[in-house]
Amino acid sequence: MPNTRGPADNQLLEYVAKNKKPETESATTTTGQPIVYKDASLTVGPKGPILFQDYVLYDELAHFSRERIPERVVHAKGAGAFGYFEVTHDITKYTAAKVFSQIGKKTPIAVRFSQVAGEMGYPDTVRDLRGFAIKFYTEDGIWDLVGNNTPIFFIRDTVLFPSFIHILKRNPTTHIRPDYDMFWDFISLRPETTHQTVMFFTDRGIPDGYRYMHGYGSNTFAFVNAEGKFYYCKFHYLTDQGLLIFSQFF
Ligand code: HEM
Repeated sequence: MPNTRGPADNQLLEYVAKNKKPETESATTTTGQPIVYKDASLTVGPKGPILFQDYVLYDELAHFSRERIPERVVHAKGAGAFGYFEVTHDITKYTAAKVFSQIGKKTPIAVRFSQVAGEMGYPDTVRDLRGFAIKFYTEDGIWDLVGNNTPIFFIRDTVLFPSFIHILKRNPTTHIRPDYDMFWDFISLRPETTHQTVMFFTDRGIPDGYRYMHGYGSNTFAFVNAEGKFYYCKFHYLTDQGLLIFSQFF
């Protein structure tokens, strides 16, 4: 018979050959005890009940029921990019942070763009906010600044966040998403959501890609200058490419 095995079929064999352990080294439990025999549970005689003292079995089952890492509750789906931040204007009278210390200074950054409510596997084109999380590798240390592609937010009080996110997710009884009754129930009862909801239903809710949207720190931050004086500030990142919406291609 001709050998039809391709490289993908040989993955396991190649892995074993490459990672072969010495005969003396045995498998271990998650806490490091050597496992002598892993192919059967400990029982009382050949047909008797399984023994509670079989810690290898319990270790196997405990590990198994926890082996899936749950998806992040928000911003699960995203993409990253590396770049740099360049100072173009002098703002040293407001802040002593080294990242802003002189015009022309470049600081490496990593950005993670994301969808907020969509779960893994959700389409990129779905109406949703987009996350805009930036990591600045500054001389003062790593500075993380979360953002979204809208300047304001739905709620003002953190205690409402879980209830708010629930209305964007699947209905736990029907498993359907979106559930507009659930959505509009919350929105209609919390007037502070109106500004952001209106923005959500404009074209900004469906950007054509992460290059064609603005980013905003949304929260109000405080800069502290060299004299220790502080100033409120907001962070806005405006795209050079202009806003482009997904539907323009259809
Ligand atoms: C009460 C308000 C908020 C709460 C309780 C909240 C909570 C959370 C939680 C629990 C996560 C997931 C963390 C993880 O699984 O590692 C998250 C991620 C995130 N949040 Fe918020 N959030 C709030 C408001 C905001 C606002 C106003 C913005 C925009 C400025 C924002 C932007 C983000 C971004 C971009 C991420 C993902 C970060 C990444 O890409 O790694 N959130 N938030």
